[in-house]
Amino acid sequence: MSDLLPRPRSFEPATGTFELAPGASVSGPPALVDGVRTALPVLDLRVAGEGAITVRHEPGLGAESYTLTVTGDGITVAAGDRAGAFYAAQTLRQLLGPAAYRAVAPEGSFTVPAGRVSDAPRFGWRGAMVDVARHFLPKRELFRMVDVMAAHKLNRLHLHLVDDQGWRVESPAFPRLHEVASHRPRTIASHYGEEPVFDEVPHGGHYTLADLAEIAAYARARAVTVVPEIDVPGHASAILAAYPEYGVNPAQEIAVLDRWGISPALLSPLPPTVEFLTTVFEELLGALGGAPYVHIGGDECVLDGWAVSAEITAYQASLGLGTPGDLHAWFLRGLADVLAERGSRAVVWDEAFVSGTLRQDTVVMPWRGMAVARRAAAAGHDVVMTPVFPLYFDYAEAASADEPLAIGEAITVDDVAAFDPAPGSWEPAESARVIGAQFQLWSERIPDARALDYRAWPRGCALAEVAWAGPGPIGDRLPGHLARLDAMGVEYRPLAGPHPWQRGGAGRRGHRPGAVEIGAVMDRLDRMTLSADSTHSSL
Ligand code: ACM
Repeated sequence: MSDLLPRPRSFEPATGTFELAPGASVSGPPALVDGVRTALPVLDLRVAGEGAITVRHEPGLGAESYTLTVTGDGITVAAGDRAGAFYAAQTLRQLLGPAAYRAVAPEGSFTVPAGRVSDAPRFGWRGAMVDVARHFLPKRELFRMVDVMAAHKLNRLHLHLVDDQGWRVESPAFPRLHEVASHRPRTIASHYGEEPVFDEVPHGGHYTLADLAEIAAYARARAVTVVPEIDVPGHASAILAAYPEYGVNPAQEIAVLDRWGISPALLSPLPPTVEFLTTVFEELLGALGGAPYVHIGGDECVLDGWAVSAEITAYQASLGLGTPGDLHAWFLRGLADVLAERGSRAVVWDEAFVSGTLRQDTVVMPWRGMAVARRAAAAGHDVVMTPVFPLYFDYAEAASADEPLAIGEAITVDDVAAFDPAPGSWEPAESARVIGAQFQLWSERIPDARALDYRAWPRGCALAEVAWAGPGPIGDRLPGHLARLDAMGVEYRPLAGPHPWQRGGAGRRGHRPGAVEIGAVMDRLDRMTLSADSTHSSL
């Protein structure tokens, strides 16, 4: 099967081979040819009339779908759209061998085995969330993340652009966001339960709007859609450090948070906050050239600040709403309306669904488990599966002191590969609401791109398989696939455990096995989702 990963719908090997040399020619509809050329940079393909690779548009194949036929005479791609042509070429790249993942081609030509691949994705949303708020990732690292995602046919890059610990986007209208909220003087270095110790190292960074436009265009060329997240109304310390007037108590001085966990910092739900966020959304959407989805968060809100504010309580009553939880859902629904008027669908974490009625077209990300996921699907929301188990990749792969510091453990490659985003035990109408799955790289304990690689892969390979083809064993194909990642320079976690230099060591980056066990976390989260008050609670 040539270690194809994610596995295609069908692969029929044939006898013979085709020699494909760098500089070979490709012909067909320009957009589709561009997709093929972009997926195979090592080949430096020339656009010419008749050549080694012939591309055809076949609308009947559907979005992202393709066939790839290799004979002794040449290679034919038929694709439903540009993304399908791009994915056909990604599959071809896998057939060429690991050297096709290097920046420079080896001497001679690639020998391609003859055969026919016929392929289409199971889910339309195959994502990765990168938390650039807790630790900023320079844009060059996002380009590389897109490259590695695209090699796995992953197609949604969810950027968590703000949290208590930082704001990461330029705002011409509200410049204190990037000037003040984008950095902190220090970061906590001690473990939970210890006397707090700080590293006294400033941390920060932000993307200019021009950077965001560039990231979105780079991603789009690789069939990846950027999903920006502005997480509100909680996780608001950084925003309020810059603009306290949008908080519950404008007189309160709030700093960009230098530690992890839940802060009580909360935006006010009053109209000036909505106007502020509308402007920020418009700036973002302008830079991105529009966005089909914008995530507005809604998670882990400590709503006590609303409950004790006379002004907010009066506002809640004037809207005929009974509880702060109702107001939470109402506020997010209003933001979703703002986005809908600008051509974007809102995405929320599951608290927003639990606390009240959302717009029907709002996409729910159920992070607290399968029970809340099923309820959201049964209520008619499109659902992107994001449960902590097995899709929070900030958890270690093993309960071992050899691991680098992680929030808890364990989530293994096999756990991910066995995950069915749309379980057969659900009603068909519920399963039909699952539009995909996504892994999360929360970055409290992911300080840089090297640590990100270690956490993301090979579990991300398993998520790609699950979202493209459904659950199933990948162990027999992983070693061959990891040779591709080696050629790309990806510092993944070896299947046998970390390289010596990837271990946590004896200091602050060492992992404390056993402190947080994933089964206990899931039990607690599951119970929380039973209560509408769960917006008050946290992990
Ligand atoms: C979350 O983990 N707070 C979405």
